[in-house]
Amino acid sequence: MTPGIVLLLSGPNLNLLGERQPEIYGTATLDDHVATAATEAELHGLVVEHVQSNHEGVLVEAVHGARGRVAAVVVNAGALTHYGWSLHDALAAFGGPIVELHLSNPGGREPWRHTSVIAPVAAGTIAGFGGDGYRLALDAVARLLRP
Ligand code: DQA
Repeated sequence: MTPGIVLLLSGPNLNLLGERQPEIYGTATLDDHVATAATEAELHGLVVEHVQSNHEGVLVEAVHGARGRVAAVVVNAGALTHYGWSLHDALAAFGGPIVELHLSNPGGREPWRHTSVIAPVAAGTIAGFGGDGYRLALDAVARLLRP
């Protein structure tokens, strides 16, 4: 296990950030958010490894590859948050701290967004703070990893 690696997982459609519904998700791109996470991680002596996919299986395999190698996971699963049970199961088998992250506040949106299948396997959720959430999530992870 390399204690310093944090796997940042980005689910479907997050590759379109910056163009996709900017009134909800803002104008920053996914690269901008990854850079924010990496900068915060560095302050805590951590390194971010980022995987974005529009396919649930790719995210599942990224979690498998993180087992025993990566210290923690930060996951914005996009819409998979609400029904991605295979991602839930992969995360349940991860074995380290997990932080759930959203740009928007799904709890204040359509009813189908109110359920998260990620929440039961996460230490906590950061939602509704836009791009600041990436900084907050890495800070939360650093605190969870502190002995
Ligand atoms: C999201 C919220 C989800 O409901 C949505 O499907 C997304 C983005 C967020 O970051 O606010 O794709 O995870």
